Amino acid sequence: MNSIKSQITKAPLDYSSLPFGYQKTDMNIRYVWRDGSWDKGTESTEEHLPLHIAATALHYGQAVFEGLKVYETPDGRAQTFRIEENAKRLQHSAEMLSMVAPPTELFVEAVHRAVRANRRFIPPHGTGAALYVRPLLIGTGANIGVAPSSEFTFIVMVTPVGPYFKQGFSPTKLVIEDELERAAPHGVGTAKAGGNYAAGMRATVKARQNGFGEALYLDTTKQYIDELGAANFFGITEDKRYITPNSPSVLRSITNMSLRTLAADMGYTVEHRQVHVDELHTFVETGACGTAAVITPVESITWKGEEIIYLRDGKPGPHCTALYQRLVDIQNGVVPDPYGWTQEVSLGQKL
Ligand SMILES: Cc1ncc(COP(=O)(O)O)c(C=O)c1O
Repeated sequence: MNSIKSQITKAPLDYSSLPFGYQKTDMNIRYVWRDGSWDKGTESTEEHLPLHIAATALHYGQAVFEGLKVYETPDGRAQTFRIEENAKRLQHSAEMLSMVAPPTELFVEAVHRAVRANRRFIPPHGTGAALYVRPLLIGTGANIGVAPSSEFTFIVMVTPVGPYFKQGFSPTKLVIEDELERAAPHGVGTAKAGGNYAAGMRATVKARQNGFGEALYLDTTKQYIDELGAANFFGITEDKRYITPNSPSVLRSITNMSLRTLAADMGYTVEHRQVHVDELHTFVETGACGTAAVITPVESITWKGEEIIYLRDGKPGPHCTALYQRLVDIQNGVVPDPYGWTQEVSLGQKL
């Protein structure tokens, strides 16, 4: 295998203690859709956008995005994980908000281009960090009447990140949010739309003020579990069932999709269905899953003042640990990927 690891001088960062936050890199890539087609895209060193004050993204929330990671393998290659699923989900999000999304080939090309342009920021294998890729699609045409934009801008930026939760793979406490709902059943809960996150900030702030890591949302009937503000939810039973909500108002997590496949192959019975809140008592472990944190084991869930405790010693349980390890080993190229989920990014010439 051809390694170019030794040819790339990494940006001088403390990769082992990176936060999950924005860090300036060398370049972002910007494409514009106008008059029915996408342009060829430009590379920009600029961190700001020249934006029309009447852009639909600003006034009417035409803003959707994606989040994926690029991992360095032990031999110095860089790989994406299920990138086509992110492209498809951006297309779904765009459709929900009457926007025009880049076709899958353009999405993949844009991500590879952005990674290549910032290859010196790909965190070294073994540091626990990764290069986070944030594709963003916004309506940049000017409208004062409420109507879809006539112009869209697709930007891919990247930033090296450490684990989402400061403690890394360590348990967090959840609280069930029983006033606010994250999304309506036939609304835009399945879209990765900026507005969903703005609407959820109140619940997250409230949860943190009360000493919890995050809020867990129920559906509008207050009977079934939906998801967290930025992650899906799953529970594991003693008899090895992996149970995760199938709701019309949650984001279809690519991590959860992958865990369902891995769990099935590891001997779990996978149930993707409505999950009643009373079932929380039947789980031996529960977890939150998403690209940022992979799996965050849940220490306890509090609902109406009652705390259901899953982990008593503050350590992740054996089920979450096994699933987490299997997934990160594939993502980081430590074990072969029998599913065809990873894709190498060609890093090009010596810098
Ligand atoms: C609301 C929400 N649910 C679930 C997820 C997990 O999705 P994925 O596994 O594709 O990252 C995310 C984002 O990461 C999210 O923002």
